[in-house]
Amino acid sequence: MMWTIVLLLLLLLFLFVSTRSRSKNEPPLDKGWIPWLGHAIEFAKDAAKFLTRMKMKHGDIFTVRVAGHYVTVLLDPNSYDAVLQDSVSLDFSRYAQVLMQRIFSVQLPNHDPAAQRAWMQQYFQGESLAHLSYVMQRNVLSLLSSPEILQNPTDWKRDGLFSFCYGLLFRAGYLTLFGREHSCNSSELTAVYEEFRKFDGLLSKIARSTLKRDEKKMACVLRERLWDLLSPAQRCGTAEPGSWQQNYRQHLRDEGADEETQRRAMLLQLWTTQCNAGPAAFWFLGFLLTNPEALRAVKEEIDSLSLHAGCQQRLPLDQLQHTPVLDSALNETLRLTAAVTITREVLQDKTLRMADGQEYRLRRGDRVCLFPYLSPQMDPEVHHKPEKFKYDRFLNMDGTEKKDFFKHGRRLKYYTMPWGAGKNICVGRHFAVSIIKQFVLTVLTCMDLELCDPNAAMPPVNTSRYGFGMLQPNGELEIRYRLKRLNPTSWGSEGSSCSNTAL
Ligand code: HEM
Ligand SMILES: *[C@@H]1O[C@H](CO)[C@@H](O)[C@H](O)[C@H]1NC(C)=O
Ligand SMILES: *[C@@H]1O[C@H](CO)[C@@H](O)[C@H](O)[C@H]1NC(C)=O
Ligand SMILES: *[C@@H]1O[C@H](CO)[C@@H](O)[C@H](O)[C@H]1NC(C)=O
Repeated sequence: MMWTIVLLLLLLLFLFVSTRSRSKNEPPLDKGWIPWLGHAIEFAKDAAKFLTRMKMKHGDIFTVRVAGHYVTVLLDPNSYDAVLQDSVSLDFSRYAQVLMQRIFSVQLPNHDPAAQRAWMQQYFQGESLAHLSYVMQRNVLSLLSSPEILQNPTDWKRDGLFSFCYGLLFRAGYLTLFGREHSCNSSELTAVYEEFRKFDGLLSKIARSTLKRDEKKMACVLRERLWDLLSPAQRCGTAEPGSWQQNYRQHLRDEGADEETQRRAMLLQLWTTQCNAGPAAFWFLGFLLTNPEALRAVKEEIDSLSLHAGCQQRLPLDQLQHTPVLDSALNETLRLTAAVTITREVLQDKTLRMADGQEYRLRRGDRVCLFPYLSPQMDPEVHHKPEKFKYDRFLNMDGTEKKDFFKHGRRLKYYTMPWGAGKNICVGRHFAVSIIKQFVLTVLTCMDLELCDPNAAMPPVNTSRYGFGMLQPNGELEIRYRLKRLNPTSWGSEGSSCSNTAL
C-alpha cells in the first residue's frame, strides 16, 4: 500500500516535471499523449511520415517531445542557414558524442572535433584523394575477379543487388583504408563484413535506445567481435606504415587516447567510412536498371569518354570529372535516398529568425533538427514529382548543371543536401562520389549485369532508417551478372583475391 502511494506520488511528480507549455514566441509545441516518450514510437517507426504529419499540422517549424527531449524541427530550407551558421548558441559535437558513446561505446579524451575534421580532410581531398580512389578502384577490380565473387567468370551468377553492392564496396573500402599488403586473408574480410552488416542492422535501434533485451546482448557481442577483428593484435602481419588507419591511430595517441580507446574508435571509423557508399551504389545502379532511358543516357556518356583501355586499367580520374549526365543521375539518386537529420543542441536561449521574417525562441537544453529529406529533397514545391527518379533533374536543356530551384518564389541555396551542409558537411563526399562513380562505371563497362525479372521494381525503403544517412531497402532487387568476355588476360593479372592492396 505504502509503495503504491509512493509510486503514484512519484508518477504525479514526474508528470508535473515533464509538463511543459508553449511560451510566447516559441514554435508550436506537440508533446504527444504518452508521458515522457511523447512521439518517440511514431518517430522511430517512420520519421519521414511522422514529420510530414507534423508539418501538415503545424507548418515549417514545431517542437515535439521525443523520449524526454524537446526537439524543434525546422523544415524550411530557406531558413536552414539560421541554424547551420550559428556555432555559438548551437552545438554539433555534444550530441554527436552522446551517440558515439551509445553506439560505439567510445569516449574520446580531449576530443577536438575541429582538429579531427582538419585531419580527415587531408586524407579525403586533393592529392591523397586521387591516390585513395586509385587504390579503391584496384581493390574493386581484384575483388570482382576473385573466386569469392566469381567462381567461373563466364557463368552467370545470381545475387541481390543490395548485397552485391554493399558487399563489394565494403570489402574494397575496408582494404583501402584498413587493409595491409600481404596480410589480407579473405575469411577475415568476410568475417568483418558479415559482423558489420549485423551491427549495422541494429544501428538505428542502438542509437534510439530501443533494443530488446536479446538484441542488446547481440549488439554487445557484435561490438566486441568487431573490436577484436579490427585490432592489430588479431590481424596477421604488421600495420602498413602510412596507411590511413595507422595514421588515425597516431592521431588518437596524440590526442591522448589509450590503447582500448584506439581499439574501439576503429569501429566508429569503419562505420563512418563504410556504411553509406555501398547503399548509395545500390540505389544508383537500381534506379538505372529500372529506368531504361536513364541507363541509355548514362551509357552514351560513358561511351563518349572512350575508356576502352580494358578493365583492369586505372580509370582516368580527370576524365571522370566531366560527366554531367552521370553526376545528375547520382545527385538524383542521393536526393531520393540520402536521409540524414542534422542535429544541434541549444546551448543558450536563442531567437531563430526565419526567412519570412518570423522569429521563434529556442530554449536552452532543447535540440534543433533539420531534416532535408522532407524539404528540399522530397518537397513538391521544390522538385516536380519528387517521388520520381528523373536522371536529368539536375541538368539544363543544354546539358549544363541546373542550379536554379525555387520555393515560395525564392531561389534556394540548398535544393538537395545529401552531405549535410555548413561546417559539418561530410568530409568524405569527394571520395564517396569518386568511388561510387568508378564502381558504377566499372560495372557498366566490365560486366554484364541485369535484372532477373526485367519488370522488377525498386524495393521500398526500410522506414526505420530515416535520419541515419543513406536509406536501405526493405527487400532486394534480384540480379544476375558475369564478367564481360573481354581479353581474358586482362582479368586477375593484378593478383588474385586481396593481395596487393596496401595503400
Ligand atoms: C553516399 C555516401 C555518403 C553520404 C550520403 C554521407 C553523408 C554524410 C553526412 C550527411 C554527414 C554530416 C552529418 C551531420 O551533419 O551530422 C557526414 C559526415 C561525415 N562523413 Fe560522410 N557520407 C558519405 C560517405 C562518406 C565516406 C565514403 C566517408 C569517408 C571515407 C565519409 C566520412 C565522413 C566523416 C568523417 C564525417 C564527419 C564529419 C565531421 O565530423 O564534421 N562519408 N557524412
Ligand atoms: C585466416 O584467418 C583466420 C582467423 O582470422 C584463420 O582461422 C584462418 O586459418 C586464416 N586462413 C588462412 C588461409 O590464412
Ligand atoms: C529495417 O531496419 C531495421 C533496423 O535497421 C532492422 O531491424 C529490420 O530488420 C529491417 N527490416 C528489413 C525487412 O530489412
Ligand atoms: C552534383 O552534386 C555535386 C555536389 O555533391 C556538385 O558538385 C555537382 O556539380 C552536381 N552535379 C550535377 C550535374 O548536379
